[in-house]
Amino acid sequence: MSSRNGPFKGRTVAVVNDLSLDEQRYLYRKASELKREVQAGGDGRAFRLDDKDFSVYLIFMEDSTRTRESFRNAAKFLGARTNLFDTATSSFNKNESMSDAVKMLYGYSDESCYVIRSRLEGVCRWLEGALGHYADSCGRPRPAFINAGDGKHEHPTQEFLDEFSFLEQLGGRDDRIHIALTGDLYHGRTIHSKADGLKLFREVEVDLVAPELLRMPEAYARRMRDNGFLVREYETVDDYLASGKVAPIWYFTRLQLERMGEEILEKAPALRKAVTFRKDMLGLLPERCRFYHPLPRDRTAPTNPTFLDETPLNGWDGQSANGYWTRVALISMVAGRIGEDFEGERKVQETYPDDFVKEVPTASRAKPEYKVGIKPVEDGLVIDHISSGQPIPEIWDHLDAVRRMLHLDVRGGHGVFHNNKGAYKGIISLPDVMSFGERDIKKLAAIAPGCTLNLVHEHRVVKKYRLSMPPRIYGFDEISCKNEQCISAPSSLEGATTEFLRKGEPGSSTFICRYCEREHEFREIWDL
Ligand code: CP
Repeated sequence: MSSRNGPFKGRTVAVVNDLSLDEQRYLYRKASELKREVQAGGDGRAFRLDDKDFSVYLIFMEDSTRTRESFRNAAKFLGARTNLFDTATSSFNKNESMSDAVKMLYGYSDESCYVIRSRLEGVCRWLEGALGHYADSCGRPRPAFINAGDGKHEHPTQEFLDEFSFLEQLGGRDDRIHIALTGDLYHGRTIHSKADGLKLFREVEVDLVAPELLRMPEAYARRMRDNGFLVREYETVDDYLASGKVAPIWYFTRLQLERMGEEILEKAPALRKAVTFRKDMLGLLPERCRFYHPLPRDRTAPTNPTFLDETPLNGWDGQSANGYWTRVALISMVAGRIGEDFEGERKVQETYPDDFVKEVPTASRAKPEYKVGIKPVEDGLVIDHISSGQPIPEIWDHLDAVRRMLHLDVRGGHGVFHNNKGAYKGIISLPDVMSFGERDIKKLAAIAPGCTLNLVHEHRVVKKYRLSMPPRIYGFDEISCKNEQCISAPSSLEGATTEFLRKGEPGSSTFICRYCEREHEFREIWDL
């Protein structure tokens, strides 16, 4: 048996960012070495596992040809045991819990990796945690999960093969890329993955070509700009060609009619026309231009039509074949077979310090500080500065929400008062309540960031804590991801614990679902 303790062993790849840029470069280097070696008649021995106790489980709960078959052939090349599950031939479509099914498969072999395509978003991230804990409790190696496309979220291995193909066209240079993305930018997960995948290049210009209804979701366009890309937008291929700034790399995508509602379907012919290339456009392309497409193309009306197949513009056939080489290299990495020669920055695991409670000095006034309600507070807790600076009706709503979420159905009062800047704030007084549990403090910080929690004794504030937005909000019954396709959404019934991660600096009020990465404003995460 070959040695299998490389540094990527058991690594889950749920999104492109699960590999650092240096790790992605390593993957491309290895895929290129493998491709050259095998095409020259070599056997790719350094990649092969040749171990039937290593299982590659292909779990496809949505249709796939290229991704499934390239993974299946990659696993065969590597000499691993391969099992294929799809909704037509397995009980994954019989309301069976995914974690139960994967746990069962995990018991069948010494080591394993799971390639999963699903309509639900965030499945691999969730299974990484659920099965990881299970593996730890059994004292066995953690399995790797590879996302083969989840809803309209991401398709990281397609992204890797795309970037590998662009690098081939650019002769291996990663200093700059100018690329046009066109087609269904709204639903296309291969498009969304580009917001991170293109970071491989030091300078990036992206032209987004799609009519309003198929436009790139703002969160991904923003992410591109945040990543330093120069982003331009056009409504149609005609508009784009007239701009005079046409990219030498075009990435077409299919209109995903199966994901569109009736209203958009009626407009499909006009939408398709806006993003379809025509013969009369050929003369408007720059030299050495190449077209790519993740495939499948629409059989009757492809956006990169079949008259292009035999022209030098056809980059998609080679791109599709690259799916095989990049996936062989990736499985070999997560199986621990290759990776010992990796040099560079490794992916750093995020940490979430609980730094949202800060004790602040109390004023040494002789006068009682709180007289909320009809009685002054003698001993108890006072939550102050709730929704400070917000309009009065919002503050009342928020006071009500805080009371309900924290189950503050006790004696006390609340109201809206002036803050020290002449605006308004909410206050809740809780006479006789002398402490909050850790969980309730976290919940309060997450519902009313910026508030203070005051401990009052004999009319004087003896302790004061300022609460800010926690970096992570999870485990409360009253929160849920508002993306219905998310594995943690109540409708998915998989029982994934809802978890949100704060985006950006401590003052930020934007949260990202840990699984599907949908952005939420913090009020949105609460089921108020
Ligand atoms: N590109 C791609 O994901 O194709 P399949 O749907 O055939 O896997």
